[in-house]
Amino acid sequence: MQKITMHTSKTYDILIEEGLLASAAERIAEVLPPSEEPGKAAARRCCLVCDKTVYALYGRQELPLYDGLTAAGYDVHTCTFDPGEGSKTLKMAAEICRVMAAKGFTRDDFIIALGGGVCGDLAGFAASVYMRGVSFVQIPTTLLAMADSSIGGKTGVNTEAGKNMIGSFWQPDLILIDPAVLETLDQAEVLNGLAEIIKAGFIADGTIFDSLSEDLTEAIVKAINVKKEIVEADERESGQRRLLNFGHTIGHAIEKCSGYTVPHGCAVMNGMYLTSLAADELGWSSAPVAGLIRNVIDAFAYPVYKEYKAAQLAEAAAGDKKRVSDNIVIVYPDRPGCCGTKELPVSELENFIVTGLSKAKATKWR
Ligand SMILES: NC(=O)c1ccc[n+]([C@@H]2O[C@H](COP(=O)([O-])OP(=O)(O)OC[C@H]3O[C@@H](n4cnc5c(N)ncnc54)[C@H](O)[C@@H]3O)[C@@H](O)[C@H]2O)c1
Repeated sequence: MQKITMHTSKTYDILIEEGLLASAAERIAEVLPPSEEPGKAAARRCCLVCDKTVYALYGRQELPLYDGLTAAGYDVHTCTFDPGEGSKTLKMAAEICRVMAAKGFTRDDFIIALGGGVCGDLAGFAASVYMRGVSFVQIPTTLLAMADSSIGGKTGVNTEAGKNMIGSFWQPDLILIDPAVLETLDQAEVLNGLAEIIKAGFIADGTIFDSLSEDLTEAIVKAINVKKEIVEADERESGQRRLLNFGHTIGHAIEKCSGYTVPHGCAVMNGMYLTSLAADELGWSSAPVAGLIRNVIDAFAYPVYKEYKAAQLAEAAAGDKKRVSDNIVIVYPDRPGCCGTKELPVSELENFIVTGLSKAKATKWR
């Protein structure tokens, strides 16, 4: 088993092992014991939150996680939701809180988020507000959630104004990663998650690309370590953590313009490429990176979203949380394995995107 310890406002472990789901209850019991005094105090309640697909595959009764938790002495309750971004809402977070209140959950009880990034963000947000905050355990089941979204303590829900507009920084008490569950994940979702691992490679650790072809678990561990180092240095995103947003300004704009039908990771991959092209053209980068990103896009056959005009994307990006007054913080690649940030006036964003799009067109972007 691999163990990575996060040192943030809370110190907690990330455990990674094939088959870990079967012994998840034992691992959780080491951090959040089923009762303070075995045999005396009431059993600790846990609310297992997952979407309906993940519930059927890994969360329901008669499967190792649920049965292990009850056998360990927890009072287990479940709260499920329809799969997809559409469930990442305040209404669903309120429903999780309603279920917990109805079952008598107190501050000593906790939430388990079993699922992808939607589940982690949603359940983590509910954990951060229920009774002003309860403990929670992340058990990510998508590649994106394992390598990225479960790490770092950002939680949130979407509103009409944009993605993750309401949220909190709320660190989990434990993260359990079982790469064996990726066997049931759709190929499109694998591609989605790979994008965030590739992003980590371009930000800080080029050796990730070798691991990707040899050992996916190793690539996940390396991506986690990239994120760990950045989050530990800047937990609440006042500086260095912004680097993790490489590709996200244009990526989020693509997601928004598509009505959130374009997968997050695929949008980010397009965003990284267009940003790199523009940064190369404007002389921001000390060594070109766009060609390398394009090679990755072509090698993995990432979808390309050419249907959105620069003006549309700029308008969508202008509402981005990375906006500082009339400027927007653009994360750009300085050279392979190293990114920097620049503040760009919002009024120049459209031109920046035009630069990326026209360079892309010139290189026969599919
Ligand atoms: N908090 C953060 O730091 C952070 C970072 C990046 C992304 N995010 C968020 O993550 C979300 C996207 O996460 P996602 O891509 O994991 O999407 P997701 O949670 O919707 O999962 C994608 C699909 O995979 C299914 N699924 C999950 N695990 C499975 C498994 N093992 N086998 C079969 N099917 C499985 C789900 O039912 C769902 O249909 C977005 O909302 C994004 O904003 C958050």
